[in-house]
Amino acid sequence: MGRYPGKRMTAKKIGAIIDKLPHDTYVEPMVGMGTVFFKTKPVKTEILNDLDCGVIRTMKKEACRKKDQTDCNRLKKAKITCGQDYKKIMRKYDSKKTITYLDPPNERTRCDYKHCDITTKEMTKVMKKAKGTVLMSNTPLNRKEICGGKIKCRTIPFKYWGEPRKDLLAIKK
Ligand SMILES: C[S@@+](CC[C@H](N)C(=O)[O-])C[C@H]1O[C@@H](n2cnc3c(N)ncnc32)[C@H](O)[C@@H]1O
Repeated sequence: MGRYPGKRMTAKKIGAIIDKLPHDTYVEPMVGMGTVFFKTKPVKTEILNDLDCGVIRTMKKEACRKKDQTDCNRLKKAKITCGQDYKKIMRKYDSKKTITYLDPPNERTRCDYKHCDITTKEMTKVMKKAKGTVLMSNTPLNRKEICGGKIKCRTIPFKYWGEPRKDLLAIKK
């Protein structure tokens, strides 16, 4: 998964933030390689999806070829779909006990995925409408468009090749 610099640098921090929020259902409707998902503690119901079925196949293959089968076994218990738009998955599983984590393709950088047509405007609107808690990773460049009112934002610092960088984490409780 090529999105510079991926979620590799921030996944642990985001996972720890998710773990602290009360929920019994975790939904990641654009899961990619599951970098953040695998850093969260397992909960009762886990729902994973990506519009790109090839990505889901690769994610499963990578998790299950590791010597440590923890991630692979976790995937066996999760409900995994592909080919569905994130909004459909959110509508289906949204509840007061649900946490949805969104990590959209960055509309400001080169598109490294098969599907990259989601806008920040649309995602912000979808977040605000949800009953449950929704977290969205994004670039600080979109801060003005996303943050405010129901949506609180945090900055997640990380280093990329030794250079300090920042990611935005928007949270709607
Ligand atoms: C930034 S990546 C997710 C990376 C993931 N968090 C990880 O750490 O591996 C964005 C993903 O969104 C998926 N995607 C794009 N548009 C989508 C849509 N409308 N519904 C669901 N998934 C979508 C892409 O296929 C891609 O895998």
